[in-house]
Amino acid sequence: MRLDKFLVECGIGSRREVKKLISDKLVTVNGNIAISPKENIDENIDEIKYKGKQLEYKEFRYYILNKKAGYITAIEDPRDKTVMELLPEWVIKKDLAPVGRLDKDTEGLLLLTNDGQLNHRLLSPKSHVEKTYYAELETEIGENEILKLEEGVDIGGYITMPAKAEKIDSQKILLTIKEGKFHQVKKMLEAVNNKVIYLKRVKFGKLELNSLELGEVKEIKIDDIV
Ligand code: URA
Repeated sequence: MRLDKFLVECGIGSRREVKKLISDKLVTVNGNIAISPKENIDENIDEIKYKGKQLEYKEFRYYILNKKAGYITAIEDPRDKTVMELLPEWVIKKDLAPVGRLDKDTEGLLLLTNDGQLNHRLLSPKSHVEKTYYAELETEIGENEILKLEEGVDIGGYITMPAKAEKIDSQKILLTIKEGKFHQVKKMLEAVNNKVIYLKRVKFGKLELNSLELGEVKEIKIDDIV
């Protein structure tokens, strides 16, 4: 692979920017200052360093973000702040996209990847990845409503698939669903005459927020996901 392509793929900068970094002598290949962006390197063997830091080439990258409220799940938007603005500098943004969507006011676990195939697979209606949400409710919820949520409710002409609902206290629940219809959790609670006043996704497949702070990002491995 050409050195400039490698550096771009590692998220160091655009083609033009990495060319400049090479001419500024900031890139080394096996200990020697790189001269030309056209130089061919073997990404599996050669040791490429930028400002003395070894670069690791990974075709696909996976990150989890503990999304803050107030950000929309989009790559760019003319009006709103997007989740991409929550990502620190070390996250490689090239071709990165969120998997699925959390509402602007929803917090919690959002997976982001440049692996388009995986993104597509996880979003497919056939994928049935379990997602668990913690929801605080406007009014108390009864056992009967919990049962209804589990069996399936009508959210505007669509009957939701069987789900798991667990009451934490009179106005707090954990709801695990295997699908991802638009505003699904909010609509499910409306279907049982309640209202979500706070929503946070705490689990997505095998992924859990654990100690990830609000707004924090962590790189993960594909095997961690499902
Ligand atoms: N369900 C919702 O209603 N909102 C979300 O953000 C996610 C699931």
